[in-house]
Amino acid sequence: MTHMMFAPTDDIDRIMSVMERAFPPEYGEAWNRRQVGGAMILGNCRYGLIGPDGSDDLRPGTDTAGFFMSRSILDEEELLLFAIAPQYRRNGLGHQLLTKFIAQSRTNGMARIFLEMRRDNPAAYLYAAHGFKEIGVRPAYYRTSMGRQIDAISQELVLKD
Ligand SMILES: CC(C)(COP(=O)(O)OP(=O)(O)OC[C@H]1O[C@@H](n2cnc3c(N)ncnc32)[C@H](O)[C@@H]1OP(=O)(O)O)[C@@H](O)C(=O)NCCC(=O)NCCS
Repeated sequence: MTHMMFAPTDDIDRIMSVMERAFPPEYGEAWNRRQVGGAMILGNCRYGLIGPDGSDDLRPGTDTAGFFMSRSILDEEELLLFAIAPQYRRNGLGHQLLTKFIAQSRTNGMARIFLEMRRDNPAAYLYAAHGFKEIGVRPAYYRTSMGRQIDAISQELVLKD
């Protein structure tokens, strides 16, 4: 399920429930509800949800396993947030959600997808498996709450030349 623009409150609730579980607080990567809601009304944002069984048909009262949020500028899509809640990891849901996101970007005519991640994130394996390539490094771009500095890695997936 992917939506443009106005996300129903229920979907924002689902995104926030994963956000609160998925991002380790020391990195300060999680967005708050206001940031998510603000991005959604900009009009160029997209998001997708996935349930614990891999389905995107989420029934009322069921848990949400993961989500992505992205925004497009012309023919470039930027993956802003991508997460699977800890209890559902290493089950292939990350692969499934990323596959769907890439396929939708292709269908929407995007030429490339960008993302930025901290260097020590195991998500790098996932992105590499889907063909993302490192295109840049910003040394010591992130600083954890413990004061540790981590490089930011920019990655790109070319969908068409
Ligand atoms: C990254 C993330 C989305 C992966 O979700 P997932 O559902 O566990 O992904 P999958 O089960 O489909 O695994 C995908 C691959 O990623 C790699 N991977 C995922 N977590 C890993 C870990 N902790 N250590 C090593 N490799 C890991 C593996 O290669 C794995 O494939 P495999 O299980 O076939 O070996 C999840 O760990 C997450 O939400 N992390 C916190 C949020 C985050 O950092 N998001 C990315 C921001 S750039």
